[in-house]
Amino acid sequence: MALGNSKNQKTYDTDGLKVPVSLGVIMDGNGRWAKKRLLPRSAGHRAGAENLKELCRNCGNYGVKYLTVYAFSTENWVRPEDEVNALMKLFVEFFNKYDPELEQEGIRVRFTGDIDALPPELQKVCHEGEERSKDRPKMQLIVAFNYGGRREIVQSVQKIAQDIKSGKLNPEDITEDTISNNLYLPDVPDPELIIRPSGEMRLSNFLLWESAYSEFWVSDTLWPDFGYDELTQAFRDYAKRDRRFGGLSSKDQGEARK
Ligand code: FPP
Repeated sequence: MALGNSKNQKTYDTDGLKVPVSLGVIMDGNGRWAKKRLLPRSAGHRAGAENLKELCRNCGNYGVKYLTVYAFSTENWVRPEDEVNALMKLFVEFFNKYDPELEQEGIRVRFTGDIDALPPELQKVCHEGEERSKDRPKMQLIVAFNYGGRREIVQSVQKIAQDIKSGKLNPEDITEDTISNNLYLPDVPDPELIIRPSGEMRLSNFLLWESAYSEFWVSDTLWPDFGYDELTQAFRDYAKRDRRFGGLSSKDQGEARK
């Protein structure tokens, strides 16, 4: 299936590669990108935001349905005040000024994270962005904002404990699905693939529960430079992965039956 895109002359041909339905991306390396250019860190974040638009366009055209990006963690508040302020300003700008571009691409915006703990003006931006875009059909951009995987699990457990307290649930009836169904966005499928640019090899508290069986793909490129070619390479490599979910590969399963 070739999906030509006249605007940026890219070919979204899925032959030889596998496109995940649900993809996670840890957008890392903005600070190093800026430092290399003797620019302030905020300039790196701005370049990162520009690149997020590009990623959305490319993922949407490839047929990804859910793209979850790590924008701001529950731990990022300890950064210098001016960097946090610049990031918050950038988020507001992204979800307001850039929204027509997302609309043009048919991209729905949702948030995952402890949104209720954000200052009211940021909560408003999140709720308005979700409401405005809720009927867009092509892809969901899920922004992990004030997000921490451990906090998400803790809050899921708190909701379950309330159900036990009110007599709606028996402790012995708790299953993995009970935890999954009480996460922030239970309707979003677990990511099949997680991409992390900029050379780090860790999850950094991103989608801890949801990533139990995700494939991981890393590269040394700093986030603002991570483009179409690397995304395509990630999908090409992902096609070669053998996802066994604790079982045997289909080849070994055949051998074992002999
Ligand atoms: C990590 O890189 C990046 C962040 C903490 C912020 C990510 C934010 C963006 C890409 C901006 C756009 C996002 C939205 C949703 C508008 P780092 O600063 O830790 O990089 P470093 O490790 O090189 O210092």
